[in-house]
Amino acid sequence: MKRIAVLVSGGGTNLQALIDAKDRGDIPGGEFAAVISSSPDAFALRRAEKAGIPTFVIDRKAFASNREMTVSLTELLKEQQIDLVVLAGFMYILTEELVQAYPNAIINVHPALIPSFCGAGCYGLHVHEKALAYGVKVSGATVHFVSEECDGGPIILQKAVAVEEGDTPETLQRRIMEQAEWHILPEAVSLFCQDRLTVEGRRVHILP
Ligand code: GAR
Repeated sequence: MKRIAVLVSGGGTNLQALIDAKDRGDIPGGEFAAVISSSPDAFALRRAEKAGIPTFVIDRKAFASNREMTVSLTELLKEQQIDLVVLAGFMYILTEELVQAYPNAIINVHPALIPSFCGAGCYGLHVHEKALAYGVKVSGATVHFVSEECDGGPIILQKAVAVEEGDTPETLQRRIMEQAEWHILPEAVSLFCQDRLTVEGRRVHILP
């Protein structure tokens, strides 16, 4: 059984999708061993408590830099004997210490079709503001392995979602969550836990 840690910063709807998938039996081979929040106030922590998952806070405000936070986070993940790290709405850029400790074992969900609307400063609602300002007719979500380049690691799954007339950043965000993120994140975690993902350069192969 792979021990999974989910890192969160806010509302935690992607965490909830993971918990629901596990409850349905859709993540064989994985167990949620920890939910770690960058803020003590994140509602995601309440979702984890309700599901009986141990919670931890690595408060970004308590550290001088992302690097110092990452070092502390990496120690906690090792202490908890975590096999897979899932970034589910985690709003800080993690530095190479974590990536080196977990090569091809950190999965992130991003609310756009990478390589569009991604990279430093492009997170949360900003992503959808940029997509609408650009005028794209299709956006979506991407689940990828985390590398040392922000949003630049090998892509595991993507799903396209239509932009509709009259969309606001909030309505587009919600549609992308409902139609894409809440499906492809649990699916990717499930594939990882069944050892069905292999990485060859930038390409991720999904084994039958
Ligand atoms: C999600 O849309 C997630 O893709 C995005 O933040 C939201 C968190 O919502 N993540 C990023 O932008 C990371 N670059 P949630 O807390 O309800 O899961």
